[in-house]
Amino acid sequence: MTGNMKMADLINSAPEILLIVERLGMSLGFGESTVEEWCAHEGRDAFTFLAICNISTSGNYKPTEAEIEKMKAADVMYFLRNSHDSYIYGLLPELDRQIALVMVGRPDSEKKVINEFFVKFKSELARHFKLEEEKIFPSLEALDRKGQPNEKVFRHEHGDINEKIQDLINLLLKYVSYGTRESRITDLLSFLYRFREDLAIHSRIEDCLILPMIEGKLSPREKEILVCVAQGMQNKEIAARFDISVFTVMTHRKNITEKTGIKSIAGLTAYAILQGLIDIESIN
Ligand SMILES: [Fe+2]
Ligand SMILES: [Fe+2]
Repeated sequence: MTGNMKMADLINSAPEILLIVERLGMSLGFGESTVEEWCAHEGRDAFTFLAICNISTSGNYKPTEAEIEKMKAADVMYFLRNSHDSYIYGLLPELDRQIALVMVGRPDSEKKVINEFFVKFKSELARHFKLEEEKIFPSLEALDRKGQPNEKVFRHEHGDINEKIQDLINLLLKYVSYGTRESRITDLLSFLYRFREDLAIHSRIEDCLILPMIEGKLSPREKEILVCVAQGMQNKEIAARFDISVFTVMTHRKNITEKTGIKSIAGLTAYAILQGLIDIESIN
């Protein structure tokens, strides 16, 4: 996928990208426009758009730190918020409707169990989205304003939610009995599989982008100090090396911990290695 590919060809080759176009608030009717041209026309960053497409279509693709640096946080956040809205206001009500159809004429106990499970799932999903929107996305906003992330970064679990969808699928697939020619249940299950895949991609995008975007934004000085910390230097030694006060070193260290969510020296060392700031061989 490249910026000079035609939009129409891109979508013909990977139709799931249609959803990305929609959730980035871009319109259709590209004509012969390339990705670059259409993104410019729609006020979106082409590089960010393509990165989201790549993560969505390939389970193995993970953007590098340099690529993440180039991405536009505002576009990512817009996309994620819009995705949340499309689950809450589009897909969940549709799921509701389809479940109700399937449950027509079934025993009350079956209706009750499935409904209660679904209601719980919906509220869990809403809680998860709210946490992200209130606690995590504002950190991305701060990056675009060139400020510091103003919220503690929450490491969050999407696993629970994906598991619950699978449970719902299994309940409907294995433990509810149907007559022949019940196409409604086939429709519902197909819809649930699509929903499961959609949410899994959503979680993957968040994992690939949100934390690295926030964490990758250490300033050059913070990176230098992190390397010293990882190499076992004391605050006094670090202060002397950069000709700054111990107090300033401490402030940098506090910021590093806030941005990365990592406190211990061992953890910071591991982080510095993973980010390619130091070579594992240089640690003794
Ligand atoms: Fe999310
Ligand atoms: Fe999430």
